[in-house]
Amino acid sequence: MSLMIRNMLLEESSLCSAIVCNSPIGIRYGFINEKISAELRKAAVSDDIIIVAENGGAIAGFAWIAPRGAFCSAPYLRLIAVDEKVRGSGIGSALLKKFEECTKDTGKDLFLLVSNFNKQAIAFYERYGYQRIGKIPDFARPGITEILMIKRRVI
Ligand SMILES: CC(C)(COP(=O)(O)OP(=O)(O)OC[C@H]1O[C@@H](n2cnc3c(N)ncnc32)[C@H](O)[C@@H]1OP(=O)(O)O)[C@@H](O)C(=O)NCCC(=O)NCCS
Repeated sequence: MSLMIRNMLLEESSLCSAIVCNSPIGIRYGFINEKISAELRKAAVSDDIIIVAENGGAIAGFAWIAPRGAFCSAPYLRLIAVDEKVRGSGIGSALLKKFEECTKDTGKDLFLLVSNFNKQAIAFYERYGYQRIGKIPDFARPGITEILMIKRRVI
């Protein structure tokens, strides 16, 4: 595997969007490819950072990082997704590591939200030291609870 983590090019937004649309969260939330793609392009030219994992020349995953997205102060991982064909091979871990590295000067505590049905993602975050600290029922969709997770950096 030749893996490179770098910033997304604007023309890669639809490839990233397709990855998340084909994931369990994309399907459950009814994500629309063109809409997510447009949001990623908009975010990439804002204060947010969109990183991609390029694996053997193909886009294998991405992460949407808002450096001060949590409470206008702390790093927030807005979205992360890996192509289902290559999940479980370390790409998500590499993206998460980059999220932590590229926000190290922004804030000590790292935040994210994960849907309560997304057991695989919750286990993935817990493996890297994220802890559940709260629940927000009916936040993104009625009937789905978002779990607020935090990682406190050791400094
Ligand atoms: C959560 C996600 C980003 C993790 O990315 P990933 O590349 O699969 O992560 P890694 O390979 O680095 O680690 C995956 C871990 O999940 C498990 N896993 C193993 N095989 C797997 C597979 N085929 N698919 C998913 N997870 C697998 C393992 O616990 C693995 O840890 P291990 O290295 O100890 O075996 C990815 O599963 C994904 O895109 N999910 C759909 C989108 C999503 O739900 N995003 C989170 C939104 S909050």
